[in-house]
Amino acid sequence: MGFLQIQFINLLAILVIIASSKSSLSATPPNFPIALKPNCTDHCGNTSIPYPFGTTEDCSQSDDFFVTCNKKLHPPKLFLWDSNIEIIDIKLDGQLRVLQFIASDCYHRNGTRASYKEPWIWFSTFTVNNTANKFTVIGCDTYGSIYGQRFDRYYMTGCTAYCYEKDDLIEGSCTGSGCCWTSIPKEVSTVNLTLSSYYNFSYVWDFNNCSYAFLAEESAFTFSPENMTNLRNVEELPMVVDWAIGNGTCEEAQMNPSSYACKSRNSSCYNKTDNGHGYRCSCWEGYQGNPYLIDGCQDVDECKDPSLNICEKRCVNTPGGFYCACPKGYHGDGRKGGQGCIHGESLTFKLTAGISLGVIVLLLIACWLHLELKRRRQTKMRQMFFLQNGGMLLREKISRREGSSDTTTIFSEFELHKATNNFDNNMIIGKGGFGIVYKGCLPHNRIIAIKKSKEIDLDQIEQFINEVIILSQINHRNVVKLLGFCLETQVPLLVYEFINNGTLFEHIHNEAKARFLSWETRLKIAAETANVLAYLHSTASTSIIHRDVKSANILLDHTLTAKVSDFGASRLVPSDQTQLSTLMHGTLGYLDPEYMQTNQLTEKSDVYSFGVVLVELLTGKKVLSFDRPEEERGLANLFLFVMKEDRLFEILEENVMREGNKKEVMKVVMVAKSCLHLKGDERPCMKEVAMELEGLMLGEKHPWGQTGHNEEVKGLLLEGELSGAINVGDDNSTSIGFDSEKDHIMLPIRGGR
Ligand SMILES: *[C@@H]1O[C@H](CO)[C@@H](O)[C@H](O)[C@H]1NC(C)=O
Ligand SMILES: *[C@@H]1O[C@H](CO)[C@@H](O)[C@H](O)[C@H]1NC(C)=O
Ligand SMILES: *[C@@H]1O[C@H](CO)[C@@H](O)[C@H](O)[C@H]1NC(C)=O
Ligand SMILES: *[C@@H]1O[C@H](CO)[C@@H](O)[C@H](O)[C@H]1NC(C)=O
Ligand SMILES: *[C@@H]1O[C@H](CO)[C@@H](O)[C@H](O)[C@H]1NC(C)=O
Ligand SMILES: *[C@@H]1O[C@H](CO)[C@@H](O)[C@H](O)[C@H]1NC(C)=O
Ligand SMILES: *[C@@H]1O[C@H](CO)[C@@H](O)[C@H](O)[C@H]1NC(C)=O
Ligand SMILES: *[C@@H]1O[C@H](CO)[C@@H](O)[C@H](O)[C@H]1NC(C)=O
Ligand SMILES: *[C@@H]1O[C@H](CO)[C@@H](O)[C@H](O)[C@H]1NC(C)=O
Ligand SMILES: *[C@@H]1O[C@H](CO)[C@@H](O)[C@H](O)[C@H]1NC(C)=O
Ligand SMILES: *[C@@H]1O[C@H](CO)[C@@H](O)[C@H](O)[C@H]1NC(C)=O
Repeated sequence: MGFLQIQFINLLAILVIIASSKSSLSATPPNFPIALKPNCTDHCGNTSIPYPFGTTEDCSQSDDFFVTCNKKLHPPKLFLWDSNIEIIDIKLDGQLRVLQFIASDCYHRNGTRASYKEPWIWFSTFTVNNTANKFTVIGCDTYGSIYGQRFDRYYMTGCTAYCYEKDDLIEGSCTGSGCCWTSIPKEVSTVNLTLSSYYNFSYVWDFNNCSYAFLAEESAFTFSPENMTNLRNVEELPMVVDWAIGNGTCEEAQMNPSSYACKSRNSSCYNKTDNGHGYRCSCWEGYQGNPYLIDGCQDVDECKDPSLNICEKRCVNTPGGFYCACPKGYHGDGRKGGQGCIHGESLTFKLTAGISLGVIVLLLIACWLHLELKRRRQTKMRQMFFLQNGGMLLREKISRREGSSDTTTIFSEFELHKATNNFDNNMIIGKGGFGIVYKGCLPHNRIIAIKKSKEIDLDQIEQFINEVIILSQINHRNVVKLLGFCLETQVPLLVYEFINNGTLFEHIHNEAKARFLSWETRLKIAAETANVLAYLHSTASTSIIHRDVKSANILLDHTLTAKVSDFGASRLVPSDQTQLSTLMHGTLGYLDPEYMQTNQLTEKSDVYSFGVVLVELLTGKKVLSFDRPEEERGLANLFLFVMKEDRLFEILEENVMREGNKKEVMKVVMVAKSCLHLKGDERPCMKEVAMELEGLMLGEKHPWGQTGHNEEVKGLLLEGELSGAINVGDDNSTSIGFDSEKDHIMLPIRGGR
């Protein structure tokens, strides 16, 4: 409310200033510089010399304003130019007073003239003030005249004063009896006075033997009968002369700023009113000082002026004005003659306060409405995305299988935003063709990985849902677990458990890490991966084809346990269908050549890709390398080529060579070779591969695998199994001991139709 009060006081101040501008401000004695420079004499005796007047050429505005101070006289006297015209007062509003000699004409008793004085005065550019001065003639046998020049024209006027006896004279009346007066025309610049007598005072000599005439300030002379005689002792009387700058108008002067005389800020120019040429300057209302000097006009502190003591409580000075203020809780104009200060808030104040309060309340309501609408819109959007992303279908399917799906959670957008610090760039842990993977942290320090896919095709929504459902049901220690998902965003978000030790790809191809990847670990990883794939392929009603098996999709945890990930490309194949034609998908180097040719997707494609991973584990070489000759660029080709040439041991990885039992290594090599068979039908199925590798791994762990006497037998056994596997082909009946799917899921895969 403080702001409102200030506004209100300002309003009041404006009103007061408007009102006060009519009241005249009496001038206080000047306490500001009046001369142009410190060196310029600003007074002569008791007479001040304000600029544009000055006693030297540098100190005066022009020759017109040059004055002389005669300090030899006592007291010193000021004279206009170097004449004998004595100046007694200079006013900044355009007048100055000079002393003017009185004309006199005296006679002897015998009728002869005793003395005669006929003074005259001449001003070049100044003019005699025609309203302040009167031409007065005194005498009982007299007529006096005044004449001279009005610029380049002439004038003459006068009057007659007569009386018979002393009693004819009237105190204070100058109407012809012993005294007469007349006005003079304007623009008078020279004054000559003459006096004449009709009868040489022969009839009135006993009480009046002299005539007098003068042009003087009206207020300086009031007629009294005694003046018939006592005027003899007076030599001079004051006369008012008008001065102005130059001889043009304000507009003409302003065209030449260097010579323009109104130098001060807060000053203005006005034409000399109808008595001669030139212009004058004046300070604005509320300012005082010398408008002819730079910064000559200063603010008048009206509050210090006792004659303006009109405020009841408090007077506040402002530049160019002032206002009366009332204390807090009072209103009114605060002036003594006016309203004064009245207790209580004014109507205007109440009105302003009321309106302001109303506006504030309205604003608050608008704000609240805006936020509420925004919140609703966001909720609606979330719901829309949820539906669009198949939320209902998912929820329904999940609720139907309540018993089996235990841990899949539907996350809210808010939770995931919080977990990833609003999807901060620092939280990105992976980027690729599929989208972006963020690391997130749920409450209780549960670390998760959030996959934000690329925008999803609306037609694939149902398929996406099926995949989510499948993944949410795979509960295998070697598959990255899907913890939940979020459908409230435009792009569905998948939430996985966070695997902290990188990908198999890194461990194989980063030299520092590869050294720690022992033969035993390699075998273990291979067996675990094979196990997972076998599990996926062998679910009861549908089998899941991963379609993108590669070392970069196998994650490792801190115990180097394999976790297969990225089921983004995976397809479900109903059990009554052994193959499926789809658009080609996969990673170059791992892609099944048969699938490439026929576009027919079968489980055997995964077997081929796994074979490549196996070779990668065995050799530590890149799957695709352009450093190798063209036919050996693909690792699979290179592998098969060196096998044929019997140079296999040239390309095996160091750890494998050093630590691996030669026979075991050969077994794995044979498994890899069978997986890489060009014809899918001739590759073993995943289950067989998994069993073979698992067997080898157990053999590796148990000392009998290394002791000599059983080696032969076991080798034969394995060889037999292996060749059997190669020849048998598909066999779904073998159970590896995983829980299989309970539900049958219909599959609307476009590619399949
Ligand atoms: C005043 O006049 C004296 C002598 O004429 C000169 O030395 C001095 O600089 C002047 N001061 C100013 C402020 O003009
Ligand atoms: C100036 O005026 C004061 C009073 O107004 C007077 O006492 C003083 O004598 C004057 N001085 C001169 C030099 O006229
Ligand atoms: C004029 O008269 C007065 C007295 O009335 C006298 O003192 C004075 O000398 C006279 N003037 C002349 C010139 O005679
Ligand atoms: C008139 O009187 C004066 C003085 O009294 C004298 O000097 C003068 O000569 C007289 N004039 C005549 C014409 O008598
Ligand atoms: C008045 O005086 C003037 C000048 O001295 C003289 O010429 C004139 O004759 C006188 N007149 C009378 C009537 O004495
Ligand atoms: C006024 O009187 C002076 C001096 O006697 C004279 O020179 C001047 O011409 C007179 N002015 C006029 C307008 O007659
Ligand atoms: C006229 O006479 C009165 C009364 O004696 C006197 O006060 C006044 O000063 C006189 N005027 C002039 C101009 O001498
Ligand atoms: C103004 O003054 C100038 C020079 O002082 C002069 O030439 C000009 O004629 C004057 N104009 C008027 C209207 O007096
Ligand atoms: C001055 O006078 C001129 C002409 O008479 C006129 O146009 C102009 O407005 C006046 N200026 C002022 C400030 O009065
Ligand atoms: C004449 O003097 C009076 C009073 O001093 C003043 O008000 C008026 O403005 C002056 N006349 C001119 C034309 O300056
Ligand atoms: C008036 O003068 C004051 C200083 O006295 C200055 O602060 C103010 O800006 C001036 N006003 C204008 C309009 O120049």
